[in-house]
Amino acid sequence: MNNLHKGWMVALLLTGCIGALTEASGGTDRSEYRSVPTRATPEQTRLYKSECGSCHMAYPPGLLPARAWEQVMGGLERHFGDNAELDGVTVESLQGFLIANAADRTDDKLSRKFSTSLAAGDVPARISRVGYFVKEHRKIPEKIVRSPEVGSFSRCESCHPRAEQGSFEEGEIRVPGLGVWKD
Ligand code: HEC
Ligand code: HEC
Repeated sequence: MNNLHKGWMVALLLTGCIGALTEASGGTDRSEYRSVPTRATPEQTRLYKSECGSCHMAYPPGLLPARAWEQVMGGLERHFGDNAELDGVTVESLQGFLIANAADRTDDKLSRKFSTSLAAGDVPARISRVGYFVKEHRKIPEKIVRSPEVGSFSRCESCHPRAEQGSFEEGEIRVPGLGVWKD
């Protein structure tokens, strides 16, 4: 093989490697896609955790559209069988925070998947009723969701350890009774 050919071989090999690297960094893109950021002041984070994170985890706002958060905040005295009533000032402050970060108010990829899977007038009462959620969780056996370790789909953190931080990375998923999730 002459030197010119060797040069081409190296070039081809390099192209192959770069191709593989680009594909691997498609993973970076995917991880970005599996998380939902929340823009909040430390005070909003504190208030949200203390008022909306005591009975269950503080759900990332970017998984429900603004109209659904309005509905939740407008009916706190009858909230899934509980009374979660708050004073008017707190409701207003939290509602502003939730709406600013709502699924249809941000353009991060995962939020858009959630908001665009809903029909225009549809106001879901739960994240776990949103079309995209249902589709992504359809393979999980009912028996596991109802098990004492989980209880219901509302307990995101039982399978997604960093759900409260808005991370739903595939590599982090641990389903009680099944362990590491392999699609
Ligand atoms: C007194 C307890 C309590 C407080 C405080 C509370 N919740 Fe809840 N919340 C519940 C219960 C119970 C459920 C139903 C959970 C289930 O079905 O497993 C629920 C469910 C939810 C869901 C639906 C979860 C899903 O499956 O998608 C959302 C959203 C929600 N709460 C938002 C809030 C917000 C926002 C606040 C603060 C303003 C709040 N909650 C405060 C008790 C509470
Ligand atoms: C019983 C375990 C379990 C619970 C509870 C659960 N999830 Fe998941 N979730 C999974 C599994 C498993 C997958 C991966 C599904 C797949 O790839 O086939 C997943 C995937 C996801 C994804 C990724 C979708 C994508 O675009 O790739 C998001 C977002 C998500 N879950 C959000 C939530 C939220 C929010 C909650 C709570 C309201 C929740 N999950 C509750 C097991 C669970």
